[in-house]
Amino acid sequence: MIVRTMTGGDLPYAYAIALRSLDEFYLPEVFSFFMTQWPAGQLVALDPTGGVAGFLMGGRLDGNRASVSILAVDPPHRRKGIGGALMGEFIKKAAMEGRTVLQLEVRTSNSDAIAFYERRGFRRTEVLREFYNDGGDAARMILFSGMC
Ligand SMILES: CC(C)(COP(=O)(O)OP(=O)(O)OC[C@H]1O[C@@H](n2cnc3c(N)ncnc32)[C@H](O)[C@@H]1OP(=O)(O)O)[C@@H](O)C(=O)NCCC(=O)NCCS
Repeated sequence: MIVRTMTGGDLPYAYAIALRSLDEFYLPEVFSFFMTQWPAGQLVALDPTGGVAGFLMGGRLDGNRASVSILAVDPPHRRKGIGGALMGEFIKKAAMEGRTVLQLEVRTSNSDAIAFYERRGFRRTEVLREFYNDGGDAARMILFSGMC
């Protein structure tokens, strides 16, 4: 499996995976915004045929922080290590810019994703009430990835 920086040509495929995978709806403009804000922080994973199997969109926050804003793997490609590979590459890319504190929000009801993040070192720090458009709550999770 290959993980590489997202290009404009990947966007429709990543967007289609988001529609199939996420409870929250994002306008296509949100994806374009992330690409413009931090091109190196947007990643795709390719399946053996070169198709987009999953993606991660990161955001630059202030200081040494970055956000994992959207992470999704197409359902047929899950549980093959793709999400973990995207996360591992993102942690490296962020650290190369000195961004060693990673933050994300995940639905408190999404116990699979919370467990996925916890097993990769993220810790729950707070609950954000009514964070999502449908009134759902989010858990904020933080990873201190500091490399020494
Ligand atoms: C959360 C999500 C991104 C994980 O992606 P994924 O590609 O399935 O992640 P991985 O395969 O790397 O890891 C998932 C599990 O599969 C297991 N796995 C990895 N490779 C495997 C393999 N070859 N065979 C069997 N299991 C495997 C891993 O052990 C892992 O479990 P762990 O967390 O105990 O280590 C994906 O489930 C998803 O897109 N969910 C819907 C969207 C979502 O909830 N996004 C997060 C919202 S913030």
